[in-house]
Amino acid sequence: MLRRPPFPRPAASVVDRLRSELERAVGPSKLLTSEEGCGRFAADESDQEPVLPDAVVLAENAEDIVKTMAVASALGVPVTPRSAGTGKSGGAVPVCGGIVLSTLGMKQVKEIDRREQIVVVEPGIVLIDLYRAVEAEGLFYPPDPNSHENCAIGGNVAENAGGPRAFKYGVTRDYVLGLEVVTASGERLRVGKRTIKGVTGYDLTALLVGSEGTLAVTLEATLQLLPKPEHVVTLLAWFAHVRQAVSTVSEVVAAGLVPRCMELLDGACLEAMRREGVPVHEGAGAMLLIELDGPEMVCERDMQRVGEIATAGGALEVVVAQSDTQRSKLWATRRELTNVVKKLARHKIAEDVVVPRTRMGELVDEVGRISEREGLRMFAYGHAGDGNLHVNVLWNEDREIPHVEAALGAVMRAVVRMGGALTGEHGIGSSKSKYLELEHGPELIALERRIKDVFDPSGILNPGKIFPGQGQRRGHGAC
Ligand code: MLT
Ligand code: ZN
Repeated sequence: MLRRPPFPRPAASVVDRLRSELERAVGPSKLLTSEEGCGRFAADESDQEPVLPDAVVLAENAEDIVKTMAVASALGVPVTPRSAGTGKSGGAVPVCGGIVLSTLGMKQVKEIDRREQIVVVEPGIVLIDLYRAVEAEGLFYPPDPNSHENCAIGGNVAENAGGPRAFKYGVTRDYVLGLEVVTASGERLRVGKRTIKGVTGYDLTALLVGSEGTLAVTLEATLQLLPKPEHVVTLLAWFAHVRQAVSTVSEVVAAGLVPRCMELLDGACLEAMRREGVPVHEGAGAMLLIELDGPEMVCERDMQRVGEIATAGGALEVVVAQSDTQRSKLWATRRELTNVVKKLARHKIAEDVVVPRTRMGELVDEVGRISEREGLRMFAYGHAGDGNLHVNVLWNEDREIPHVEAALGAVMRAVVRMGGALTGEHGIGSSKSKYLELEHGPELIALERRIKDVFDPSGILNPGKIFPGQGQRRGHGAC
């Protein structure tokens, strides 16, 4: 686990007052203050060091959130909003202590309107339940983080989550029409709209989506839906070299084809899978998983063309799933990857960097060089259609940490040099804040800090995230 200097926490006297005022505001059944209770909310799925909050509020309705924010604001105590806690950048780790405000208990689908093609949901709904609810109405919510069986929409909105289908369908922000939020001072606000069009004033919805819980807490999201695709086809292609797989991705795009997913696994990933007994083509040094959806005839025609492009690009073998069971088997190789990689070492960091898709081969080569130079196992896999690769770094011993830090810094610098982004779907959180200046210059960061100040003048909402340094809380015992 990578360590960082601790952030200052609220003073003991403030914590005492906080607990008693929260108990009065939301009632004892929705408040956790014991070490054991709070301990369950100290970490998320990142490699960030857990930090014990001083109190956890288990919100069940909007009023609980409003009251919690009012108490926090009056006492100047930090609040870390959290839904399912599956984030990978430390966004839900309460680095300054204070309150964890859990919205996982708010799981209602408030409305599905087939004619408007929208759904209105509370922040705690788990994505798989949202899929089921809208699919029962013949509708489709496209964003699909691989954690969709566990992650909740509140976190997806906070991080602007993506996933394999983003190449065709975009990310969470593209589907959020409007939000109801609670501000740092406890004010309830509606931003956005219920219609596809609507350009009145500043687009605060777009600003709040992806703001990582630093500007407001989501109460409700109005999401745009699409008709459920009629047909899906899935193809897997094995290549000897990652460069062949990467140029196949570019050729598919250049041919005007729009698969819904193009997922890449590099040679190091395949080697790890082989060792775990997952069937992998013998000579393969890279794998592409490509999926198309739409009318059946169009899917079949486009799949044929994708297969031809892959073969012309040097594919060793192309396999097409003939049934749903076969499709799940092909996806199993990809979905199992995070778990397989986790077993290989005591610690793993999964970055989610983005480069122009034509430069992915360069990035994979660079990762190979960094891995050799720093003596660490590193992998790259992910959403090749978007140039969004999960560069993973593995290590076992604390003495390797300086190499891990050096490797991560080198990856981030390479990405920015190639015209890419530090994060494509996991957010900056606390894990990447020290790299923010590589991508955003000082003037831009200063403007972003001023925006944060407008929404949250005391800096109590999710301090220690996004911005480098000690956060910007100005309440009691400021961080
Ligand atoms: C994925 O695409 O599998 C997820 O974003 C999580 C990961 O980094 O492995
Ligand atoms: Zn991903």
